[in-house]
Amino acid sequence: MTIHDRSALTATAHAADSIAFRLNGADVVLSEAPDSRLSEVLRASLGATGTKVGCDAGDCGACTVLIDEAQACACLVPVGQIAGRDVLTVEGLAQTLIGAALQQAFQLHGAAQCGICTPGMLMAAYDLLRRNPQPGERETLDALGGVLCRCTGYLKIVEAVRDAHRFIGCGTATSPSDGPAIGTRLARLDGAPKVAGSERYGADSAPEDALWLRAIRCPHPRARFTLGDCDAFVEARPGLVRVFTAKDVPGENSFGIYPHLKDQPVFSAGETRYRGECVLAVVGEKEAVEALSIEAFPITWEPLPAMIGSAAALAEGAFTLHDFVPDNVLTRGRVERGDVEAGFAQAAHVAQGAFETGFVEHAYIEPEAGYAKRIGDTIEIFACTQAPYMDRDEVARVIGLPLESVRIIPSACGGGFGGKLDVSLQPMLAVAAWVLDRPVRCVFSRIESMISSTKRHPSSIQAKAACDADGRLIAYAMEGDFDTGAYASWGPTVAGRVPVHATGPYKVPHVRNLSRAIYTNGPPSGAFRGFGVPQAALAQESLFDDLATAAGLDRLDFRLINAIRAGDTTPSGQTLEASAGLAECLEALKPHWQRLLADAAAFNASKGRTRRGVGIGCMWYGIGNTGMSNPSTMRVTLSQDGHLTFWNGAVDIGQGSTTVLTQIAADALGLPVERFDLVLGDTALTFDAGKTSASRQTFVSGRAAEAAAAALRAEILRLTNAGPSARLALEGTTVTVAENGVVARIDLAALPAQADGTVLEGIGSFDPPTVPLDAMGQGVPYATYGFAAQIASLDVDLDLGTIRLNRIVAAHDVGRAINPMLVEGQIHGGIAQGIGLALMEEYLPGRTENLHDYLIPTAGDVPPIDIILVEDPEPLGPSGAKGIGEPALVPTAPAILGAIRHATGVTPRQVPVLPHRLWELLRAKEGRS
Ligand code: FES
Ligand code: FES
Repeated sequence: MTIHDRSALTATAHAADSIAFRLNGADVVLSEAPDSRLSEVLRASLGATGTKVGCDAGDCGACTVLIDEAQACACLVPVGQIAGRDVLTVEGLAQTLIGAALQQAFQLHGAAQCGICTPGMLMAAYDLLRRNPQPGERETLDALGGVLCRCTGYLKIVEAVRDAHRFIGCGTATSPSDGPAIGTRLARLDGAPKVAGSERYGADSAPEDALWLRAIRCPHPRARFTLGDCDAFVEARPGLVRVFTAKDVPGENSFGIYPHLKDQPVFSAGETRYRGECVLAVVGEKEAVEALSIEAFPITWEPLPAMIGSAAALAEGAFTLHDFVPDNVLTRGRVERGDVEAGFAQAAHVAQGAFETGFVEHAYIEPEAGYAKRIGDTIEIFACTQAPYMDRDEVARVIGLPLESVRIIPSACGGGFGGKLDVSLQPMLAVAAWVLDRPVRCVFSRIESMISSTKRHPSSIQAKAACDADGRLIAYAMEGDFDTGAYASWGPTVAGRVPVHATGPYKVPHVRNLSRAIYTNGPPSGAFRGFGVPQAALAQESLFDDLATAAGLDRLDFRLINAIRAGDTTPSGQTLEASAGLAECLEALKPHWQRLLADAAAFNASKGRTRRGVGIGCMWYGIGNTGMSNPSTMRVTLSQDGHLTFWNGAVDIGQGSTTVLTQIAADALGLPVERFDLVLGDTALTFDAGKTSASRQTFVSGRAAEAAAAALRAEILRLTNAGPSARLALEGTTVTVAENGVVARIDLAALPAQADGTVLEGIGSFDPPTVPLDAMGQGVPYATYGFAAQIASLDVDLDLGTIRLNRIVAAHDVGRAINPMLVEGQIHGGIAQGIGLALMEEYLPGRTENLHDYLIPTAGDVPPIDIILVEDPEPLGPSGAKGIGEPALVPTAPAILGAIRHATGVTPRQVPVLPHRLWELLRAKEGRS
């Protein structure tokens, strides 16, 4: 297969036939090529875009529908085969009692996060519940096994499916609405369209007259290329309109995260640096673009030697990938404190080791998709993104426009996890739409998404740790090389964040943590849930297990002795003022730890090929950008016609910020959540809330939302001369303010209005107080940190090297849980991704570029998870809240590796711990023993 291969089923291959079937109970007659995919026909011809497409290959299950009451992947079904049959899609689910109940249950259990898998999940679950309305857990897991979810960790989905029978005939889902919103398990405010299938993702909307764009990408890790006569190629193919190359970019042919590092071309000019790099785009009518044979394209490749991996890029005589970095070292990071050599010299116990991790793919179920539309001298982009304002800035540079001439309208985002922080299709869509003055749309294929997008940085880490005879940590040193691939992306962020976190959430007086981001000919490594901290934690936690053993201490006790607490100073020289709840997390885990250890001991007492192990991992995570400004601004308004509107520029990629920020705003204002109209993440309408990354939206945008709502409340109180304890109500166009039996009223209709109808508004901003790091990494990199500890229990088959997870117990200090249900969902999802990192996921360019070969955890791979929320309030946070997105993932893989070691006595130092790797370690141990 070439990387451009479209699969055997196409929409264009054969003449159309008249095909009649029933869709959601209604008769449909279509003229379609019989070999067209049913998924494509549903979406493109019938507008039933609730059926999602994540892979077009039968791997993800997002397209699951029922055909004659049997589950099927619509992407694998030629529409000719459904003539005369009944098709049920998510759009028809609400017409059924069971389907409507399932939708309710998904809402109230928080089973939909980004929601892109939700239609497929619902259909698979519906199929199960029709046969058995109250299924057991095993049966449910089996029924959902064909549908992948990257967000939820599946547990809330399974809960919802098993609980759905209680909602049969119950009407619309409701959540708690009386009293304070903060702390309640409020159903997602954006959840209804997700469960109905009406949510609009990047591929679900485009102007009728939009042309299609298809990128042509390099099949080699490095190559020179020459283009033939593209114009003649286009002219010879009816329906093609134009080819765009580097010379067609009106502004700067480059993009990148950092202002001084715009190193990635929109279209390569002459030489490519990674497999999957975009060299040009073909635009035309959909059928013509889809039918294009890439092999016929007039392009000649000259493959060049490539540097694969950091070691190759650092080797003597390695060529230079980018002229501005002759040694291929993009960035160096450093945190140094105390005298690390003196620390090691006085230690009673020393542990050291080398650790390796590989590329990890985000594998969001929604491939990149969207459209661009030129409107006079401005351009609009509708696409999935985590960072609309950054996208705006990039597109403005590429087209050569002022910022205000670019409008980014984020679509619903079908998962991101850091992978949609970089622009993908936005610049090339903008170029094409701008030049042609016609709307242009694009939907990446699964393979295209995987080869072109950023990855988690592979790492090579050498680390050394030391403690005294009592087990108190004295010194820690690490040197980590992070393969940042062909372009910078978030490489500097990773190199900067790792040294700050690499010692873990512990008191260590002598520290030297060094990192490098290395340019190679790999795919660009970027942001992925944790920005390098998960890789560093694997090394550090493993060595701390060594030290605990050497000091004769229980592994949990060792961590408790050394846990950093409020009042302690970090390796960056920052004294933690408050909300450092690791010790509380560990204390909360202790009974679980002891129980699971006893269970493992009892299990292992009987000899056999399966051994049980228990491991523990801890983490801390700085919330927001590292030592730099990352403000957010929010607005809450009342209009003349009585609408209360929350103008919220934070993009909800599934984590729940839309709901959480509204809960915060509601309590700060004193009106219920359901009174708010929401305007979300549109650069023309909302203030810049910053990007959705670094676990920052609850903390940073939450504070801004709180301030905005409080400012509006203050204005209302000022107008009515009321005190801070007054109760507000909004009826029609009247705001009622009651205090001590006195009621005052504001008639909004009588107030002078701004152009948009606003009569009262509150605007609030927050920028976490930080101090940039100096040359030794000293400063205040983050205003606050999340803390967590997780325990994993698992079984290892000593003959096969396979692993089965039994249970994970997770204790997280989140400050205040604004919405405990959504917090739990983040923890479940983070743990599932941590399982993938530890045991399954390895992106190998050219080999694992689809969801068949690149394995992510399925419903059956995630064990029961017990969650303990430790709410140590952060004084700076909104109602004490911090963040949870990334902290959820970081401790999982260390806990799993610790459990493998406990079970087997071997110490994995490379992830994923695939069966063959563990098998080799076990055989090597046998050889030694
Ligand atoms: S889109 Fe059909 S299985 Fe993935
Ligand atoms: S909610 Fe399942 S993929 Fe996002």
